[in-house]
Amino acid sequence: MRTLYSNIKQLVQIEKNQEKKNIVSGEDMKKLPSIENAWLCVKDGKIENFGEMKSFESTSQFDEEIDCSGRTILPTWIDSHTHLVFAHSREQEFVDRILGLSYEEIANRGGGILNSAQKLNEMSEQELFDISLARLHNVIDMGTGAIEIKSGYGLNTDAELKMLRVIKRLKECKLIDIKSSFLAAHAYPLQYRENHEGYIKLIIDEMLPRVAGEGLADYIDVFCEKGFFSVDETDRILSAGAKFGLKPKIHANQLYNSGGVQVGVKHHAISVDHLETMGVDEIECLKKSNTIPTLLPGAAFFLAMHYQPARMLLDAGLPVALASDYNPGSCPSGNMNFVISLACTQMKMTPQEAINACTINAAAALEMSETHGTIRVGKKANFMITKPIPSINYIPYAFGEKVIDEVIFNV
Ligand code: NIG
Ligand code: FE
Repeated sequence: MRTLYSNIKQLVQIEKNQEKKNIVSGEDMKKLPSIENAWLCVKDGKIENFGEMKSFESTSQFDEEIDCSGRTILPTWIDSHTHLVFAHSREQEFVDRILGLSYEEIANRGGGILNSAQKLNEMSEQELFDISLARLHNVIDMGTGAIEIKSGYGLNTDAELKMLRVIKRLKECKLIDIKSSFLAAHAYPLQYRENHEGYIKLIIDEMLPRVAGEGLADYIDVFCEKGFFSVDETDRILSAGAKFGLKPKIHANQLYNSGGVQVGVKHHAISVDHLETMGVDEIECLKKSNTIPTLLPGAAFFLAMHYQPARMLLDAGLPVALASDYNPGSCPSGNMNFVISLACTQMKMTPQEAINACTINAAAALEMSETHGTIRVGKKANFMITKPIPSINYIPYAFGEKVIDEVIFNV
């Protein structure tokens, strides 16, 4: 099956095979390679070729031609950090925060992650799968073309496995490509509050072998944070994960500047995510690594925290990825279009930087550079066709407006 997309107003985020990049950093993130008035050919789900309309010569037969006049094409969003599998929403905590409680205070009195864990433990695997699948469809409709999903609301062996099996079943639906992360180290369950050692042993000796044995996780994650998992505890859990071949992608520096970045880099984390609280040492540490700083402005927005210092990272020449953090506590939305708008308005990223952060760099943060993130010959044909828009800047500008007309997926 061969399809021609013709008269594309702008074909955005193209990458030539001979100039493969896989990731863009610092100043280079300002550039978004594009072709005005372009064509794009898709054969059997893969990008076969593309170019300028004026030099288009039809040498082969097309089964279908789609006229994209006035419309722009760009790769789908890659959401490299989500907790999309959860049981119920937590809008009462949202109200509690409006009335003055902090996220930490809610967590300390047994709400937050523990609240979600209790609800998830009570829910059947089938129901959890059904509501998670509905959420997945919802984010796909908004342009998400590959996603990472974490466990971490089980907090015991059975429920963590239940979550990871749900993620596995979502993968098997073959709607979009999915990576899964094992996040039992998300919070200490109540019965282990005074017995950290016991819970860490449970994770290392019981959960990890089963998770790895069933091939249920691509990555290991830890919520490295004051009041959650210390740097030393994170260090031990990541070392144990490495023995099972699980690379880290961790929660770091969300509430406090507490060493998360350094321990992530020490373990060659693919990414360190959140980074609301950063200092010069953290930037210097990242500069000496291949770890991708991943910013989650939706969480800063929803918790009314200060935003991640994107400019500081970019000005230091680092790459930046953006993700939604879709979860019931700190960001009950998987809308990547909104993430891009926040990145531009609140973190002063340009539209080009934000789009790079949600496409090529986010694909790198999921080790999907060979298949996703840019319009490159041979990659999966996963892209969005916008409604007629004046320019690419209109996407973050028109926040809340549905600018995407159609999304094409191939798994
Ligand atoms: O990434 N910070 C840790 N985990 C999630 C929130 C989890 C929750 O509140 O349910 C996050 O923000
Ligand atoms: Fe998260």
